[in-house]
Amino acid sequence: MNNDLHKLQPYPFEKLGQLFQGVTHNGDRRHIALSIGEPKHTSPAFVKQSIIDNIDKLAVYPSTKGIPELRQSIAQWADKRFALDAAGLCPNTQVLPVNGTREALFAFTQVVADRTHIDGLVVSPNPFYQIYEGAAYLAGMTPHFLPCQPENQFIPDYDAVPESVWRRCQLLFLCSPGNPTGAVTDAATLRKLIALADEYDFVIASDECYSEIYFDEAAPPVGLLQVCNSMGRTDFKRCVVFHSLSKRSNLPGLRSGFVAGDADILADFLKYRTYHGCAMPVQHQLASIAAWNDEAHVQENRRIYQQKFDSVLSILDGVLDVQRPDASFYLWPKTPVTDTEFARGLFQQQHVTVLPGQFLSRTVDNINPGENRVRMALVAPLDQCIEAAERIKHFVQS
Ligand SMILES: Cc1ncc(COP(=O)(O)O)c(C=O)c1O
Repeated sequence: MNNDLHKLQPYPFEKLGQLFQGVTHNGDRRHIALSIGEPKHTSPAFVKQSIIDNIDKLAVYPSTKGIPELRQSIAQWADKRFALDAAGLCPNTQVLPVNGTREALFAFTQVVADRTHIDGLVVSPNPFYQIYEGAAYLAGMTPHFLPCQPENQFIPDYDAVPESVWRRCQLLFLCSPGNPTGAVTDAATLRKLIALADEYDFVIASDECYSEIYFDEAAPPVGLLQVCNSMGRTDFKRCVVFHSLSKRSNLPGLRSGFVAGDADILADFLKYRTYHGCAMPVQHQLASIAAWNDEAHVQENRRIYQQKFDSVLSILDGVLDVQRPDASFYLWPKTPVTDTEFARGLFQQQHVTVLPGQFLSRTVDNINPGENRVRMALVAPLDQCIEAAERIKHFVQS
């Protein structure tokens, strides 16, 4: 058996299950889950219809590279969203469809890993999406975590990273907007990281799957390709972005996203994926085209999140130390007691589930940046988010 499997940690929800073992809610309130980051708004009707209309494609083997029409739609979407130059992304060489970013982040790490260097590092934010860590271990590399602290707006302090780490770095994961902090990495930081990637010869994987959940229609989060473009780096060398329809379009069950960027890296990624066997079903590709081609449903999606953040934050104001994030659908408040005590007590007393921050992060040099924070995903319907916020207020005040 693969020994590296032993390095994998239980998933945060398994840890939550253990924390709640033997704990029951001692009232009769309905359960409200703010713990799982699964979008719950309605999936677009035209996407569902597209799958029905194309269901005969079940009889077709899909190709790993995807149909040209999908890559074209994705390239057009990304060109517009990230203000890329007239040439924009080449749909043939700089775009690949993936079955959601989760599998892509994992598989991509296996492709980047150069096993001739036994001390290769995957540099990751902390807290972080757990796939980054598992992907690093299973690629024979070691994760190196950088704390995301409030004093640096929840962005790692990249200036504090020693040269010895950059020398060993093979892959740098960015998560912007971040899960669970919602923090957006700004253009100046991205420029600095691109320069470091050139200097130390590593790849940047920018997980931007929350990029479309933001609050100001006039100021969407900046992306890595956009910054490359503004530097005249239209080959996107060493840079690859990960996007998804899961959050943007409320389609987590479609398993549809894309990677885009450096054509040389994507050529190797395509080779890997051919063997990995992860082609997207054609009816899902056609449904994805419909989703990428439409922005009205995404604006409506943002409007609903905005409403939820406004309501919940007005209830929690003065109750918890909590701020509106730059983007994403998460709140990342400080807890007045330990995060695990808070989550357990809240469940027992108020039947509301939140995720302890320490389950989303690792302790490095005796510091766990997730400790004494919880992640609240505002995915439930507005009335439930409001009710949950009221219950949290009662819990804290009691
Ligand atoms: C930071 C981050 N990246 C990637 C994913 C994977 O999303 P999907 O595979 O649905 O695109 C998630 C899902 O929750 C996430 O939070």
